[in-house]
Amino acid sequence: MEKKQEKKRIVLVPVPAQGHVTPFMQLGKALSLKGFLITVAQGQFNRISPSPDFPGFQFVTIPESLPESELKRLGPIEFALKHNKNNEASFKDCIAQLLLQQGNDIACIIYDESMYSCEAAAREFKIPCVIFTTTSATNHASRCVLSKLNAERFFSDIEDPEAQDKVVENLYPLRYKHLRPSGLGPLEPHLEMRREIVNKRTASAFIINTSNCLESLSLSWLQQELKLPVYPLGPLHITASAPSSLLKQDRSCIEWLNKQKPRSVIYISMGSMAHMETKEVVETAWGLSDSNQPFLWVTGSGSFTGPDWIETFPEELRKTVSERGYIVKWAPQIEVLAHPAVGGFWSHCGWNSTLESIAEGVPMICRPFHGEQLLNAMYIESVWSVGIQLEGEVERVTVERAVKRLIVDEEGACMRDRARLLKDKVKASVRNGGSSYNALDELVKYLETD
Ligand code: UDX
Repeated sequence: MEKKQEKKRIVLVPVPAQGHVTPFMQLGKALSLKGFLITVAQGQFNRISPSPDFPGFQFVTIPESLPESELKRLGPIEFALKHNKNNEASFKDCIAQLLLQQGNDIACIIYDESMYSCEAAAREFKIPCVIFTTTSATNHASRCVLSKLNAERFFSDIEDPEAQDKVVENLYPLRYKHLRPSGLGPLEPHLEMRREIVNKRTASAFIINTSNCLESLSLSWLQQELKLPVYPLGPLHITASAPSSLLKQDRSCIEWLNKQKPRSVIYISMGSMAHMETKEVVETAWGLSDSNQPFLWVTGSGSFTGPDWIETFPEELRKTVSERGYIVKWAPQIEVLAHPAVGGFWSHCGWNSTLESIAEGVPMICRPFHGEQLLNAMYIESVWSVGIQLEGEVERVTVERAVKRLIVDEEGACMRDRARLLKDKVKASVRNGGSSYNALDELVKYLETD
């Protein structure tokens, strides 16, 4: 009798933040649909709970992982450094336990590059490991270039601004100045983390949540540079929907959208980490009101944590905001972007938001805050030409102008046409025979090989 083939187990190790957990759960779902058993190894916060959306998934807690208060105290980079130092032994114990409990072996550990301490367990138990980049290929490439640069010297070299303005070879429009990590604290902890990541790396392949039709140049560059298999299989939210919102999504906004005219609404969300200063919020509210367009505004989990802050606006502004706007703490974003009433997305340009907007053909106003959001904004504006950047200080006139350019003017209509074409290409890439579809199949073959 033919022996039934044992299913292989994959352990996923995401960074505990919305923008990372979401694509990890999508990848888990995609691999589970291909017949793998999935274990999600999580820390103490921003956790996904078992649910019918993840049938058969196993969730384990990494003992002694750092609490959320440490993230708030240290900021994301110092937190990641400390987390990895603390986590190494703890993650090894976790894997040892899993190996004892499971009848089947662990075929692979797939981890977020910032969780590099996993590699120690992979080495000790001789388990292959693969890095999953939840941000863009261009961001991954830029970090590779940064690792090779004598960055401390390079970025302090004010004598030579020309060198910083040079385009990185084969990565146009990426310039050296874009490599400098932006807005996430001093340079040195970033460089320390890059050293740790590169020195400890034993991963045998890379998965990237992107599509060849979006970043072919950066992907070719990475393939040459890394000399390991690279699987660009995104956008994963199309391939495998995996509800993994850490905040409750307020669906009342869909009813409000149902009452608005087609392509009239500007949707504003800054994701889960960025937050706007008070002055910026007030100027934005004035600009939105002056634009005369309806708007749906997500306040998120930043400093403005609820719709109540509208109470602090002057009377006149409060009146127009409540007439034209709808404010929620957290929305069902993918559904919002797919709604026919939405004509534009004002975004911080997190990679998930960028992919979700592209996949629905919605043009964008880009207001990046930190990190790779700046690269994403550059791509949205200058490479794909499906958005405009709002640079400098936010003032009500610039907000009003940007909204009109996107929603009312001919310029916006052209951007929407280009966005629709890009959407078609992206959707084709995840369909049977498309590049992302094939990349997922190739990854499955790779993971199935002993
Ligand atoms: C973080 C970083 O800030 C970002 O730069 C990086 O690319 C990923 O990690 P975040 O700021 O949360 O992510 O932004 P983003 O990547 O856009 O992810 C936000 C996710 O939250 C999206 O999947 C979006 O659909 C979801 N979301 C957002 C909601 O479900 N509801 C909302 O109201 C807003």
